Amino acid sequence: MFQEQNPAIVVRYELARRIAREAGRTAMGYFRQRDKLVIELKGVQDMVSVADRAVETFVRSQILAAFPDDAVLGEEYGGDRGKADFVWVVDPIDGTACFVNGMFSWCVSVGVVLRGEPVIGVVYDPNADEEFHARAGGGAFCNEAPIRVHPGQTLKDGVLGVGTSFRVGTEDFIPFLERVLLDGGMFIRNGSGALMISYVAAGRLIGYFEPHMNAWDALAGLVLVREAGGATNDFMAGNGLIRGNPMLAGNRKIADRVARHSGLSLTAPEMELC
Ligand code: IPD
Ligand code: CA
Ligand code: CA
Repeated sequence: MFQEQNPAIVVRYELARRIAREAGRTAMGYFRQRDKLVIELKGVQDMVSVADRAVETFVRSQILAAFPDDAVLGEEYGGDRGKADFVWVVDPIDGTACFVNGMFSWCVSVGVVLRGEPVIGVVYDPNADEEFHARAGGGAFCNEAPIRVHPGQTLKDGVLGVGTSFRVGTEDFIPFLERVLLDGGMFIRNGSGALMISYVAAGRLIGYFEPHMNAWDALAGLVLVREAGGATNDFMAGNGLIRGNPMLAGNRKIADRVARHSGLSLTAPEMELC
């Protein structure tokens, strides 16, 4: 397979893994002293602290020192794709609300896109010392162990991860939850979408749905799920890299079922399963 052999991807995969672990250690230093953090609000229920900014600055400097012609798109400092083939998509701390309130479900998320195709996903959870990592054609792993999506065929067979934010209204999300429950499903939200999508790749959650995610929340997990034998929607459709999109993941049967419950148009390009 082309991607499997592509040395430009392999070398970035190794770097992404190293950076995610080092960034996680840096974030952990702030987490242990979180009573000293000054928290700012970016929007309703949308927080940021010096930790988020410091970790993203570190990640950017590491990427650009190794690959000065690559582009970086991060939650805290944005970014411009320019003419770069490789775009790194970084959430320095996903699960900031958990982080600043002393809960453990947060992670560092690093994805890489090559000419519009997501090819690398690394999600590192320093509290559990779990590194979920995958590259296109190379399989998906938690630390050194290969991972696979949940084999369940109905929503009764496992727990569904869900997320939402004030970037969207409640009018579609609440009826979605009702349809999941009426279908015998049960849902969980742990505050870190990137971590929950990694759990889908690891077969811990049966699937995931969120009506809108930004690329830095979703892309690393998307590569993980696809490499773990699962399906996602076409998150990159309609300029998803910049604007974000709904995010859906699971094995194909579950992803299809959840897509039907989502209330979103199944014919929209961004909802096509792949
Ligand atoms: C948020 C988390 C949350 C998801 C939101 C994200 P942040 O990211 O991933 O689980 O529901 O859509 O914005 O703000 O913690 O980096
Ligand atoms: Ca995030
Ligand atoms: Ca974040």
